[in-house]
Amino acid sequence: MLLPSPAQITILITLDCDFSCCFCCVARSKKSVMALHNFQIVLKNIQPSLFSTLSITGGEPSMVADLPMYIEAANAAGYNVNIITNGYSLLNSDLPKSVFKAGNSVSISLHGDEKTHNAITNSKSYKNVLKSLEAVRVNNGRGRILYTLTKYNSNLDSIEYVYDIAVEKGLDFFLARVNSINDGKGCMVPISDLEKVAQFVADKKANSKIKVGFSNPIPPCVLPAHLGATVSGCSSGYGFVSVRPDGALTICSESAESIGNIFQQPLSELWGKGLHKQWIDRFEAATPLICANCEHIVRCRRGCKIEDSPLGDFYLREHMDTRWGIIRERKYKLKKVKILKHDGLNYFCSTTPSRFFNDAILDLVREFRTASTPADAFQRFAARTQTTPLEFYDVAYSIIDMIEIGVLYESQAA
Ligand SMILES: C[S@@+](CC[C@H](N)C(=O)[O-])C[C@H]1O[C@@H](n2cnc3c(N)ncnc32)[C@H](O)[C@@H]1O
Ligand code: SF4
Ligand code: SF4
Repeated sequence: MLLPSPAQITILITLDCDFSCCFCCVARSKKSVMALHNFQIVLKNIQPSLFSTLSITGGEPSMVADLPMYIEAANAAGYNVNIITNGYSLLNSDLPKSVFKAGNSVSISLHGDEKTHNAITNSKSYKNVLKSLEAVRVNNGRGRILYTLTKYNSNLDSIEYVYDIAVEKGLDFFLARVNSINDGKGCMVPISDLEKVAQFVADKKANSKIKVGFSNPIPPCVLPAHLGATVSGCSSGYGFVSVRPDGALTICSESAESIGNIFQQPLSELWGKGLHKQWIDRFEAATPLICANCEHIVRCRRGCKIEDSPLGDFYLREHMDTRWGIIRERKYKLKKVKILKHDGLNYFCSTTPSRFFNDAILDLVREFRTASTPADAFQRFAARTQTTPLEFYDVAYSIIDMIEIGVLYESQAA
């Protein structure tokens, strides 16, 4: 169910940046800055809000010379501000005065020890970032360290190194798995590494004085069941939106699709209406079967919604590809089960647990009368039905499910 307005909002005041991190999801641009008077229009147009903290980021927000004035404007409008920054220029000019004001907070990115951080951010920023972190401690500021997990820094020694810095500075510690968006595509971490990191987070959550967690989604289904509660879901488009420097409202900071322009219309006229409603209808119509049947759907909401994958989330696709790879060439036979006609197009299958099938799934079941492997059955099915990439995953899921409930059973015979 959609809330009456989003519970969180992030405003990107620039797409410019002084770093060039090898994994960056932002399509960076030197020209794109939100002028202060436009920022003030955003403040007016997001009211009334369900949230009291507003996040300001970029690109790199400290590249905007008047950043303290943006923070003051947001504070004057009744919002606390969380600045999300690479931390390199945090101590310049008047910035600390506004950032460390009671109620405000700062999220600073640090991705490893000096060598690792400097290498993956293509900068020599480590020492400055540590000075910024120390300034948060000295000023009794509120904040967190953000650690982006890439294939270059997903080892536990590197994570523990930065976690210790967070403890020393009294900051919370949040990990984000890299998203397969823009430069992030080349930096993905294998699921096996995510599992180790999720175990690390679970252990620290239980024993740490600081808050530890994930700041972006990982679908619980790709991890062992006991780690499901450790990871976060994605409320983009449902409880969270973002604003780009040109006023475009998007479901999250990484989405390039505008669902309206907040310089021109108040949020109350955009939320749940027009382009936003169209986005929700399209997203829900494309729900894969695996998610439609999943106990985690309300919390997970299908993981990341905008990665380069027909299922949305990169790791959900990896997970399905692995499961399909295991069964695709094995030999299966169809067990005799009762399939009863029920309710128009739906058929009831009297297995334990029971299942409802529709016409398409029933067609798929029939393929196994003559096909011996899932790959063969899928080829026959696809030749008749022109399967889309999303439908392929529905077919793969259905076959895996039929194996799990025993409608298909493994046979060694050719
Ligand atoms: C986009 S940056 C903007 C703010 C600032 N420039 C910074 O680096 O903190 C916000 C956060 O997103 C993280 N990030 C960047 N690219 C990402 C990706 N492809 N997947 C996940 N997180 C990413 C950054 O490491 C940072 O912690
Ligand atoms: S992650 Fe942040 S610091 Fe790095 S290039 Fe992207 S916007 Fe800049
Ligand atoms: S909702 Fe979908 S992506 Fe999320 S855990 Fe369930 S099956 Fe996986």
